[in-house]
Amino acid sequence: MKTVDINYKGSGSNIYISEAWRLVQDLIPHDNVFIISDINVQRLYGDCFPDFPTITIGTGEVVKEPDTVETIIKHLLAAGADRSTFLLGIGGGIVCDIAGFVASVFMRGIDFGFISTTLLSQVDASVGGKNGVNINGIKNIAGCITQPEFVICDTSLLRTLDEAEYISGLGELVKHALILDSKLFEDIEKNTEKLIDRDTDLLEDMVYRSVQLKASVVQKDIEEKGLRRLLNFGHTLGHAVEAAEGIVHGSAVAYGMSIAASISRDEGYISDKDLDRINSLFKKLKLFDQISPDWDNVSDKIMADKKRKGKDIYYILLEDIGRAIQVKYPLDKILKMIKIKIQ
Ligand SMILES: NC(=O)c1ccc[n+]([C@@H]2O[C@H](COP(=O)([O-])OP(=O)(O)OC[C@H]3O[C@@H](n4cnc5c(N)ncnc54)[C@H](O)[C@@H]3O)[C@@H](O)[C@H]2O)c1
Ligand SMILES: [Zn+2]
Repeated sequence: MKTVDINYKGSGSNIYISEAWRLVQDLIPHDNVFIISDINVQRLYGDCFPDFPTITIGTGEVVKEPDTVETIIKHLLAAGADRSTFLLGIGGGIVCDIAGFVASVFMRGIDFGFISTTLLSQVDASVGGKNGVNINGIKNIAGCITQPEFVICDTSLLRTLDEAEYISGLGELVKHALILDSKLFEDIEKNTEKLIDRDTDLLEDMVYRSVQLKASVVQKDIEEKGLRRLLNFGHTLGHAVEAAEGIVHGSAVAYGMSIAASISRDEGYISDKDLDRINSLFKKLKLFDQISPDWDNVSDKIMADKKRKGKDIYYILLEDIGRAIQVKYPLDKILKMIKIKIQ
């Protein structure tokens, strides 16, 4: 078992890369626990869940809305939940985002933990304490940053994931390597086949390294005032393409990273060779194929990006493979640069 700790203002969050079902029994209280999961995860793994009441939600971004929060809170109230209730989220990024949000607002905050069941949530979504819901189609527009007591990442659970969902997680893994760790990038390059085959040992190592990278950034900038923005690499365009084209998050972000890498090359940061290495890795990992998004649609979505500050936008570029920088560009300039690349 490998562990990573996040400490913040005297409270801590422990992330375990470990077999889930035995460990979770040691981490949750003996009573007054409620589980939140989704229908797929409940169907596949419900028999292994700790013996507590389970609130099961649907799947997809449509459930990541205030209605679901209200339904869960009504359910908790009807079942007698109180300030000492512990919430255990078992699922991917959607379950974790909703469970974390409910736990943060229910009675002004109760303790919670996660068993993270998708690659995307293991390497990214369940680490760092961000949670929230979408309103009017704007992703994560209502949310907060609250750390779970623990997160368990069990890579054996990833065997049952859909191909597209698994590949989506690889996108965020490559993102961490590209912005923070050239050695991880090289190791991913050397192991593409094993990664595609979901080799459990390799995945354990890579999830661990990815969590360490994300935790190191989050730890230094819990409230996203600076360094943490690097984690948004590929996401300005990625979020827009995800919404406009309806493709999975990690693939949309990989496309966003490819365009940002190309702009990094044009701006004189990375070489043609580096750009080729990046695009060739995306191809080998089947992260995206032909994407030709509709510009008007994409630009509207970028304009609505909540990270936009007035007329300027923070955009993340690569100085090198394994090193990212944030630049504050006028929105017009960044839109122009992206438009040239995608048309
Ligand atoms: N909080 C953050 O920091 C953060 C970071 C990145 C992404 N996110 C959010 O995460 C969400 C996406 O998360 P996701 O990609 O994990 O999607 P998801 O939670 O929708 O899971 C994807 C699908 O896989 C199914 N599933 C989950 N675990 C499974 C398993 N072990 N076997 C088989 N099927 C399984 C789910 O039922 C679902 O249908 C988005 O809403 C995104 O905004 C949050
Ligand atoms: Zn992401």
